[in-house]
Amino acid sequence: MKDKLEQIKEEAIAQIQAADVPEKLNEVRVKFLGKKGELTAVLKGMKDVAPEDRPKVGQLVNETRAAIENVLEESKTMMEKVLREAKLKAEVIDVTLPSKKNTVGHRHPNTIALEEVERIFVGMGYEVVEGPEVEYDLYNFEKLNIPADHPAKDEQDTFYINKDIVLRTQTSPVQARVMEQGKLPIRMIAPGRVFRYDEVDATHSPSFHQIEGLVIDKNISFADLKGTLEVFAKELFGPETKTKFRPHHFPFTEPSAEVDVSCFKCGGKGCRFCKGSGWIEILGCGMVHPHVLEMCGIDPEEYSGFAFGVGLERIALLKYEIDDMRLLYENDIRFLKQF
Ligand code: DAH
Repeated sequence: MKDKLEQIKEEAIAQIQAADVPEKLNEVRVKFLGKKGELTAVLKGMKDVAPEDRPKVGQLVNETRAAIENVLEESKTMMEKVLREAKLKAEVIDVTLPSKKNTVGHRHPNTIALEEVERIFVGMGYEVVEGPEVEYDLYNFEKLNIPADHPAKDEQDTFYINKDIVLRTQTSPVQARVMEQGKLPIRMIAPGRVFRYDEVDATHSPSFHQIEGLVIDKNISFADLKGTLEVFAKELFGPETKTKFRPHHFPFTEPSAEVDVSCFKCGGKGCRFCKGSGWIEILGCGMVHPHVLEMCGIDPEEYSGFAFGVGLERIALLKYEIDDMRLLYENDIRFLKQF
C-alpha cells in the first residue's frame, strides 16, 4: 500500500512538472485527487485493509494528498508568475516613442465676435435669449408690421416650409416672442442663425447670423438708443470710434436708422477698407413701432423701447479684416487659427 501511494505521488508530481498551462494542472488535480481520482480509489480500497492498519493507511493517504496539493499549488503560483511576467513584457510601453498629436480646434471668428458682443451687452445688464430658427410667418413678418403682400417681404427672399412656417429671415421675431411673454421691463439680445434665399458670394450666404437687441421700459427715448449703440461701437471697435445715425426705414421701428461707425482702419479719413467714405455701416435700429407694441400686448402709451439688429458675420469680417464671407464657412483650420 505504501509503495502504491509512493508511486501515485511520484506519478502525480511528474505530471505536474510536465504541465505547461494552468488547465493541465487542473487535469492532474482531477485525475489524482478528484472524486474518481486515483487517491480516492485507494481510500475506497480501505475495506480490504486490516482494521488495525486503517489509521496508518489513512494517515499515509492524507500525507500523499497534502504532498500532491502542495506541489500543485506551488506550480500554479509559479506558472501564474511566469504568465504575468510574459504579459507585462508584451505590453511594455516605450515612452521614448514619439507621441500621437491631438490637434485641438480653434474658436470660430463668428464665435469670438459673438462672445465679444455678448460680453458688452451683458455688461450693460442685458439678458441673452434665443428663439426658434423655424418660425411662424406670424412672428417673422406679421407681428413685425410686415403684413402679407408688404413690399418689405420681397426684400427677404424666404425659405417657406409651408404657407405659415418659414426659416426665419431675421432674428427680429424674437422681439415679438419676448414682448408677448409680458415680463417688463425688457433688456435682451437674441443671437442666432437666419436664412434667406441668397446666392453665395463674397458678402452673401443663404444662412448667416444676426444679433437682435430689444429694450422696453417706461420713458425709453431715442437718446437711450443712441447712447447705447455709441457705447457698443466704442467697446467693439475702440474708444476713438464715432457713430453716425442715418434715417432709414424698417417696418417695425419708427423712427428707424442705419448706424455707421467711423472707419477704424483710417480713423475716418477714407481708405480702401471704407471705400473712401470714412464710414462703415454696421446695423439697423429704431424705436419700436407703437403698433408692434400693441400687437405684442404692450400699451404704447405707457411703454416705449428701441431695437437693433446686427449682422454677426459683418462684425467678424470687419473686426478681423476678412474680405470674403465664404472663408467663414469653409472651416479650414489654417484659416481659423489666425484669429
Ligand atoms: N431685422 C433687420 C434686418 O434683418 C435688422 C433690424 C433693423 C433689426 C432694425 C432691428 C431694427 O431690430 O430695429 O434687416
